[in-house]
Amino acid sequence: MSNKIIIVTGASSGFGKDTVKKFLNDGNVVYAGARRVERMKDIEKLGAKVMKLDITEDESVNVFIDTIVKEHGKIDALINNAGYGAYGMAEAVSIEDAQRQYDVNVFGTARMTKAVLPHMRNKKSGTIVNVSSIAGKLTTPMCAWYSSSKFALEAYSDALRREVKGFGINVVLVEPGAMNTGFFEVAEKEVRKIDHPKAYAKSVDAFLNAMAKAYKNPPSTEKVVNTIFKAVNTQSPKARYKVGTDAKMGGIMARLPDKMLDSILISMYS
Ligand SMILES: NC(=O)c1ccc[n+]([C@@H]2O[C@H](COP(=O)([O-])OP(=O)(O)OC[C@H]3O[C@@H](n4cnc5c(N)ncnc54)[C@H](OP(=O)(O)O)[C@@H]3O)[C@@H](O)[C@H]2O)c1
Repeated sequence: MSNKIIIVTGASSGFGKDTVKKFLNDGNVVYAGARRVERMKDIEKLGAKVMKLDITEDESVNVFIDTIVKEHGKIDALINNAGYGAYGMAEAVSIEDAQRQYDVNVFGTARMTKAVLPHMRNKKSGTIVNVSSIAGKLTTPMCAWYSSSKFALEAYSDALRREVKGFGINVVLVEPGAMNTGFFEVAEKEVRKIDHPKAYAKSVDAFLNAMAKAYKNPPSTEKVVNTIFKAVNTQSPKARYKVGTDAKMGGIMARLPDKMLDSILISMYS
């Protein structure tokens, strides 16, 4: 049992909600943030401190963090989990949608991190866990914006880890493969709203079929949740954890020569 002050973003669904439960079970104080507060009633009943949070808005982030600091004077861990996949062919996704993708997955994470860091530096301790993806290591057709947002998150986290290590703060990346959350439902909606040129129709279908297959019987969130929990409760965690067989395979594939990888991925998605 521990008594840490923990923040989890994207707590209305998937990894975020299950991570909240795990930390509550261990006796921590858990602040759960997301836009759809009505979807967090169950974790509120379990003891989570639920607050509306939109990580794309400075005001929302500042109110969220100020409330916690007023109530407890410290933050032990920030789990930057909120995110989604804006999939679609690079030619067809609007710049507005691409910017929105970065505003959540990259700048939203940065907004939360900037607000939390002064408090962790003061205490000379803390852990920041950034939920990335295997898509932050390896990209496929249809994945230009989601993947590049996660590649950016990986580089951001590597720089940050090296900047704040000396203040006693750990920065950890978690890189899951496909898992059973609300992710696929949101991703599919993103694809279906795009008006792709006919020339891409077969590739878009191939991608959606591959996604549907990957998400047909996906593993539960358990391994990701346990990895996040371990990262927060380990003195010296690893810089990154790949979670899931597909994530581990993806990590190996990412090291293949470009020409070989191109031909594998092009044939898979056409
Ligand atoms: N599941 C997978 O297969 C998989 C694989 C690799 C990586 N990931 C990553 O895992 C993380 C969590 O996703 P998930 O799989 O658990 O999907 P999910 O079930 O769809 O949950 C996503 C969460 O992000 C929140 N969110 C989205 N936009 C937000 C915003 N502007 N402000 C605050 N919260 C926001 C959503 O809450 P509201 O909509 O209520 O705000 C929701 O709680 C994401 O970063 C995703 O990229 C998922």
